[in-house]
Amino acid sequence: MAQFTPAELQSLKAQYEKAGQSHVFTYFDSLAEPEQNAFFEQLQKIDPARVQKLRELALNPPKEEGQAVVEPLPDSATASIIDSSPEDIQRWYNLGLELIGKGEVAVVLLAGGQGTRLGSKAPKGCFDIKLPSHKTLFQIQAERILKVQELAAKGAADPSKAVIPWFIMTSGPTRGPTERFFKKEKLDELSEEENAFRAKGKPYFGLDPKNVTIFEQGVLPCITNDGKFMLASKGKLAVAPDGNGGLYKALQDEGVLDKMRPNIKHVYAYCVDNCLSKVADPVFIGFAAEKKVKIGTKVVRKRDAQESVGLIISKNGRPDVVEYSEIDDATCQAVDPKQPSILKFRAANIVNHYYSFEYLDGMGDAVNSLPPHVAKKKIPFFDTEKGEAVDPKSPNGIKLEQFVFDNFKWLNLNEFACFEVKREEEFSPLKNADPAKKADGTFEKQPEDSPATSRRHIKEQGRRWVEAVGATVNNGDVDEGLEVSPLTSYSGEGLEAFKGQTIDKATI
Ligand code: UTP
Repeated sequence: MAQFTPAELQSLKAQYEKAGQSHVFTYFDSLAEPEQNAFFEQLQKIDPARVQKLRELALNPPKEEGQAVVEPLPDSATASIIDSSPEDIQRWYNLGLELIGKGEVAVVLLAGGQGTRLGSKAPKGCFDIKLPSHKTLFQIQAERILKVQELAAKGAADPSKAVIPWFIMTSGPTRGPTERFFKKEKLDELSEEENAFRAKGKPYFGLDPKNVTIFEQGVLPCITNDGKFMLASKGKLAVAPDGNGGLYKALQDEGVLDKMRPNIKHVYAYCVDNCLSKVADPVFIGFAAEKKVKIGTKVVRKRDAQESVGLIISKNGRPDVVEYSEIDDATCQAVDPKQPSILKFRAANIVNHYYSFEYLDGMGDAVNSLPPHVAKKKIPFFDTEKGEAVDPKSPNGIKLEQFVFDNFKWLNLNEFACFEVKREEEFSPLKNADPAKKADGTFEKQPEDSPATSRRHIKEQGRRWVEAVGATVNNGDVDEGLEVSPLTSYSGEGLEAFKGQTIDKATI
């Protein structure tokens, strides 16, 4: 039975017509009733006028008046773990753990990306970077949460309150497999061998399922270069996740803020593909909470003037992010007048944020105002003029994406703080696949940010941690490293028992 009245259909058609998108109904009448119902539901969830506005904004962004004044953030808005005093770091750590111990901290994971460069069929979090333990990114992150909860419970007045709710943002393509993965169900996207590994251990990796919420970000229609919504089939729009900036709208629409409201005051947000992310990092949370900022962001030091990373800066007196391509060579090369051995603009964006809950809860309609960005992509579609499905070989359309850091510029400098951390301890993103084998048996060049670099960075970190307490590693590992389970140590603490020992295991 049709789940809409003729008047409702008429009104929906009028909305799409007004936005110049009436072609989406070309085949509507020829569809069977269940397909019509599904298509009606899909079309109803999208506001075609809003999408038109976003497209206009993306293609013709408002021109900035005058020359922008770009400066590093002032000292009052920054701190660095590299040169902060041990007393400051300890104070932030204690405060962060105290807030976690009171149940005031939540973690939000951005896991809605489709990982096209990595090319894995399953969501990135299910990826096995081939550590000796074969733990996936999701498992490593879940165990870090378990460990921080344990550390916080030790000093808490009521240890039962030391719980960190984990909110995992997925998207249409990643939600189903992510949910099944946490429940330890079989995933068609994984091989038999991978499924066998994944079946081991507890569902939700030992976390209480009631503290893990998997929610879904929104989508936006894919559009042709001349602004028409694309159809995936006769009865379906081609859509794509609305970018990691869809977070703010999804927190509202999916009831996440409502769930957080009773207890949560501080939120730690990070990207699924950073295998070194210190999930729920007490130091960072304590630092941002002490400064009482609305948003805090972690950065690492830019490697050299050429590295193509976005930078956190102050632009016309507000916090902002500039992409590498937007700054000239002289600005890239400039050195810090106070420390001439390092770059002046060095705060590389790693998309790892702190939010005060109050800020997120007060965003209101602003969630709809994040400026969209254009990504030109190959988008399979159903051609309504030719009446056939097309699988393009080159980019043929536009995906609109919002970026999660595009709201920084809405804040004043005293509402924002930037925290520099050590790259080797906290940042190793997984973006690209390991190199393919060539016909002659040799391999393509090893890319940056691959499973191999993630694995190596975790094992090098483990080795550094045990060497710092006076142990040595002699385990024959190909990377000459050691995998330290997050359940053994969160960030190098608690390893004193290994002092003076030679560790011959691959994992401790
Ligand atoms: P990337 O921009 O690197 O995208 O995401 P990706 O999907 O992982 O990889 P490519 O570009 O397709 O190869 C950075 C972070 O933002 C999240 C990702 O899951 C990752 O944690 N993200 C990205 C979302 O949550 N939603 C999106 O729509 C896009």
